[in-house]
Amino acid sequence: MAHPKNRIIFPLDVPDLDEALEFVEILKDDVGVFKIGLELFVKSGPRAVGAVKERTDAAIFLDMKFHDIPETVKGAIRSASTLGVEFVTVHTEGGSALMRAVVEGSGGKTKVLGVTVLTSLSSVDLVEAGFDPKYKDASELVAARARLARNAGCAGIVCSGLEAGLVKKKLGKDFLVVTPGIRPKDSPPDDQKRLTTPYEAIYNGADYIVVGRPIRNAPDPRKAASLIAEEIGKALKDRA
Ligand code: C5P
Repeated sequence: MAHPKNRIIFPLDVPDLDEALEFVEILKDDVGVFKIGLELFVKSGPRAVGAVKERTDAAIFLDMKFHDIPETVKGAIRSASTLGVEFVTVHTEGGSALMRAVVEGSGGKTKVLGVTVLTSLSSVDLVEAGFDPKYKDASELVAARARLARNAGCAGIVCSGLEAGLVKKKLGKDFLVVTPGIRPKDSPPDDQKRLTTPYEAIYNGADYIVVGRPIRNAPDPRKAASLIAEEIGKALKDRA
C-alpha cells in the first residue's frame, strides 16, 4: 500500500455496468480499490465483479452491507468469497453471532468489515431511531460496535473519520478503519452528515477512505483523485 493513492476506495455507484467500466478505465491508475455496491450489483450481479477484474489489478470491495440471520448471511458471504473480492461488509447491528458466521463463511479469503454507524446518520437521527440519548455523539456507539466486530474476528470496520482515532486507540493499529463521508473543503452539502476531509480522516488514523461524489462529479476525476492522494500523503507524513 506504499503509494497514498492505494488508500482511496472509489465506489462504482452508477446504474449500469458500461458507465462503471468507463470509470474503471479513467481511474485505474489513480485509486487502489474499486467498490461495487448495491446499485451496480443489483443490476449487473457477479459479472460486474468479473468485468472490473478484467480491466484492473486494483482490489475489489463488494459492499453489500449484509444484515440478516447468521445462516443466511454466512451463505451469502460464502458465495461472495468465490468471486475473488478483497473486502465485504456486514452490519455490526446484526450482532456477534452474525459477524462470527460471516467470518466463518469467508473462509479467510475475504476481509470482513463491520459497518458501525452509517456516515449519513447524525446524532439527531440516532436518537430519533430509538437510541439512548447517551449515543448523541455517535462515537460511543461506533466504539462499542467496533469492539464487537473485532471480537467476532472481523478484519476491521467502517466508520466516519471523526471516530477513526478513537477506534485505533481502543482497538489497535492493525484493526482496519475504512472511512466514507469524505468531503474535500468547499464540497456542496448532500446526504452525508458525519464528514471529514481526506486529510482529517487519514490524520486521525483511517487506513482507507471511500470517496465517491467528490471524484465522480468533478470536471476532471483523475485530477480530483490525485489532489486527494496528495492530501493523504501529507496526512501520513504529519501523523508519522
Ligand atoms: O463519497 P460518497 O458519499 O459519494 O460515497 C458514498 C459511498 O460510501 C457509498 O457507496 C456508500 O454506500 C458508502 N458508505 C457510506 N457510509 C457507510 C458505508 C459505506 O456512505 N457507513
